[in-house]
Amino acid sequence: MTRILSGIKPTGQLTLGNYIGALKHFKDFQDSGEVFIFIADLHALTLPIDPKFLNDNTRDLAAFYLASGLDPKKSTIFVQSSVSAHSELNSILQNYLYMGELSRMTQFKEKSAKMKDSAIGLGLFAYPVLMACDILLYDADIVPVGEDQVQHVEITRDLANRINKRYGDILVVPNYKVNKVGARIMSLSDPTVKMSKSDPKGDIFLKDDLNTMRKKIMSAVTDSGSEVKYDKENKPGVSNLLTIYASLKEISIEEAEKHFEGYRYGDFKREVADAVVEEMGPFKARYEEIIANKSYLEVLRIGQERASQVANKTLKRVQKAVGLLDVDGE
Ligand code: AMP
Ligand code: TRP
Repeated sequence: MTRILSGIKPTGQLTLGNYIGALKHFKDFQDSGEVFIFIADLHALTLPIDPKFLNDNTRDLAAFYLASGLDPKKSTIFVQSSVSAHSELNSILQNYLYMGELSRMTQFKEKSAKMKDSAIGLGLFAYPVLMACDILLYDADIVPVGEDQVQHVEITRDLANRINKRYGDILVVPNYKVNKVGARIMSLSDPTVKMSKSDPKGDIFLKDDLNTMRKKIMSAVTDSGSEVKYDKENKPGVSNLLTIYASLKEISIEEAEKHFEGYRYGDFKREVADAVVEEMGPFKARYEEIIANKSYLEVLRIGQERASQVANKTLKRVQKAVGLLDVDGE
C-alpha cells in the first residue's frame, strides 16, 4: 500500500496558504493509501519561539488536522517529538548530508539572511536532515507539500540514494506531490511574496472570523487594468485571487478565468470572498467543536503508538546497516 507522509510546523497561526497548499489535500490520500500526518514541533524550535505559544499551536494544529477531514481511524496523526526515533535517526543521518549542500538550501538562505551569524542555531542549518528523517522513517512513497518544500524532499531523495548505495537498499526513496493549482499562495498585500505565517501582512489566518476573511479579500491588492486574467508577471494580485478561487472550487485556472469573463474587479473579489467563506465556515465550525471536547488529545496518543511502531523498525534497520551493535538483539 502506498505510504503518504507530511507535516506542518506549529510556528504560528495557519494561513489560507497552508490550507490550500497542504492541509486541504491530506485527506484525499486516506482512502487509497496509508497516511501519516504529523506536527513538526521539533522543527518549530529552529527559530526562537515562546514555549506557551508552541504548546498552544501544537494543540491547535491537531484540531485543524481533524477539522480538515483527516479521520484518525484511517490516518495516523502524531506529534514529531512524541516519537523518539526522529531524533535518534537524525543523529545517524546528519553524518551523510554535507555543509555545502545544506548551505545551498533556499529556506536556510532566506531565514538566515535576516539574522546575525551569532544568532543562527545549528538546528536551522541542519533542518533538512531532520526533515529527511521524518520522511524516511515511514518508508514514505509520496510527500504532499507546497512548492517551497520541494527542495527539502529532493535532498531527502539524495540522502536515501546515498545511504542505499553505501549500505544496500534499506531506505525508500520518496517522491513529492505538489498540486498544480495553489502550490504557492501569495500575500494579499504584496502578491510578489509568499503568504506566510512568519510575515503576517496580507495573510488570511484560519483563525480569523469569517467577516475578517471577507474584508481581507475585498481589500486585496489588485492590478491596473480591468480584465480578470491570469498573468503572474503583470497581474500578480488578480492571478493570486484566481488561484485561491480555482483551488477552493477544485477547477483549473482556465475554468476560473472563463467563469469571471467580463467581471469587474469588485464583483470578482466578492465571489472569491464567498468561496473562501463557504469553505472556511464549516471547517471552522468543526475546529471549534474539536477544540471544545479535547478529542485531539486521545488521537495524538494513539498516533504516537502507531507511528512509533513503524518508525522504530526503520530505525533498527539503519542502526544495523551502519554497524551499531544491538545489545538486546542476537
Ligand atoms: P509551514 O508553514 O512552513 O510549516 O508549511 C506547511 C505546509 O504548507 C508546507 O507543505 C508548505 O509548502 C505549505 N505552504 C506554506 N505556505 C504556503 C503558501 N503560501 N502557499 C502554498 N503552500 C504553502
Ligand atoms: N519543513 C516543512 C515546512 O516547513 C514541515 C515538515 C517537517 C515536513 N518535516 C516534514 C513536511 C516532512 C513534509 C514532510 O513546511
